[in-house]
Amino acid sequence: MAKLNELVIVVSGATGGIGQAIVKRLQEEGAVVVATDVTASPQETNVEFIQADLARPEEIRALFQRVDEKYGRIDGLVNNAGVNRRATTMDVTVEEWDFIMDVNLRGTFFMCQEACRRMIQQKRGAIVNIASSAAKVGGKIAGIHYSIAKAGVNAMTMLIAKDMAAHGIRVNSICPGPIDTPFHSETTDAERERAIQNIPLGRFGKPEEIAAVVSFLLSEDASYMTGEILDVNGGLIMD
Ligand SMILES: NC(=O)c1ccc[n+]([C@@H]2O[C@H](COP(=O)([O-])OP(=O)(O)OC[C@H]3O[C@@H](n4cnc5c(N)ncnc54)[C@H](O)[C@@H]3O)[C@@H](O)[C@H]2O)c1
Repeated sequence: MAKLNELVIVVSGATGGIGQAIVKRLQEEGAVVVATDVTASPQETNVEFIQADLARPEEIRALFQRVDEKYGRIDGLVNNAGVNRRATTMDVTVEEWDFIMDVNLRGTFFMCQEACRRMIQQKRGAIVNIASSAAKVGGKIAGIHYSIAKAGVNAMTMLIAKDMAAHGIRVNSICPGPIDTPFHSETTDAERERAIQNIPLGRFGKPEEIAAVVSFLLSEDASYMTGEILDVNGGLIMD
């Protein structure tokens, strides 16, 4: 039997590079995927798609109401939506700080809260949050506010995992290193080369290499894992 057979799994940031790979992999594993993104799905796909801006709490609530109406349950959530802006300590404005936090940190938290509200009733569920290696070491490409938000996502993962363990809900994070997606549309060739020099496996990762770990963490193969922050970075950071 497929690993995620008929599980209802919501995937955010589903229009993006990693998001599309996650949707495809979970469908291959037998899941019923509900894809969501602030931008509409770029091509015709055979996946249920709900447009929502995760910076708006009311749109998060509406998204879960739609899932309730259609499926009446939620078995998994992948918080993959994210935005980055380049900025160092002295560049960050209040407006930009709020924008980055609203999507990456607050959006992720209230997605978890809505999912847990339902998973508690079901006495089971699994959540995977996509953080970043920037949460641990920052970086030139990653804005400082983005890195701080992703560190918050990792703290959130551990704290919600503790809160929810008694309800049979597992929560884990993945910290991707550099992955080839539109996220790097402003990354120059020179920056790319410099980044690769620090990666023992000598290349950027592929979205499918994140999707494979997401699928594992959602499955029963990871039944004894919760509150874990998992590096998927070609060896960039080993801790
Ligand atoms: N690509 C990398 O090198 C890398 C490295 C580490 C972590 N990440 C993280 O992986 C995740 C996926 O990134 P990606 O590389 O596929 O980038 P991407 O830009 O291709 O995809 C991100 C998606 O998030 C969506 N999104 C942005 N703001 C949103 C909002 N307010 N509401 C709903 N959706 C919103 C975007 O529309 C986009 O489809 C992100 O959380 C990112 O921070 C990426």
